[in-house]
Amino acid sequence: MTRFRTALMQLVFLGFALSALSAQADGTELEITDETFGCIRDMTPVRGFFVGNLLGDLDATLDVAHSETGGRYPAGSVVQLVPTEVMVKHPEGTSPATNDWEFFELVVSEEENRIGTRGYVEVVNRFGGNCFGCHVKAEPQWDLICESGHGCDPLPLSDLLISAIQKTDPRCDEQPVLSGEEQQALTAFMGGS
Ligand code: HEC
Repeated sequence: MTRFRTALMQLVFLGFALSALSAQADGTELEITDETFGCIRDMTPVRGFFVGNLLGDLDATLDVAHSETGGRYPAGSVVQLVPTEVMVKHPEGTSPATNDWEFFELVVSEEENRIGTRGYVEVVNRFGGNCFGCHVKAEPQWDLICESGHGCDPLPLSDLLISAIQKTDPRCDEQPVLSGEEQQALTAFMGGS
């Protein structure tokens, strides 16, 4: 009997969870807080960047990320190249100007992990660059995802440096050993900034 009741409770709970999810998929706002973001390497790697999906539809996000012809990322998609900069896809119609992407600059250190700035067309990173201003240059089929060869101006960061930055996200429990070249790239970057 107890087991039956537990199973019933689980079903009821699942019902609630599913209706919450479908409400979000229908266009209700995504709830995004400091706790939404964590160790970059816990996300799913795609070439040089990482993706996730806040609505549980990682497969739909990966389908677009791996498509050779591009496509529109589904609502809930989270994309990161470095620990401090994030793009999150909101339900269609939230921000037509940015294809419904919201840009985030996070404050990340061993002590802190919080949202510094968030928004649509106005967010500027710590180097003074406007996120949207660069990302909008991607050809339309890439849905504002720059990578390389999508039409954006390239970042002044080498792949080696990006890899070193990803490996030293202070929010991760494990810190992989850097290669000598990665260590060098990181030291030069830290010294120069
Ligand atoms: C100077 C132009 C520029 C600015 C400013 C900029 N980005 Fe980017 N961003 C790029 C380029 C170019 C890449 C691709 C780099 C690569 O893969 O080598 C990129 C990569 C990314 C990625 C990985 C997915 C992709 O598009 O390749 C995310 C997520 C991202 N940036 C978010 C942001 C956010 C958030 C901001 C603002 C806080 C920002 N960026 C500011 C140019 C820029």
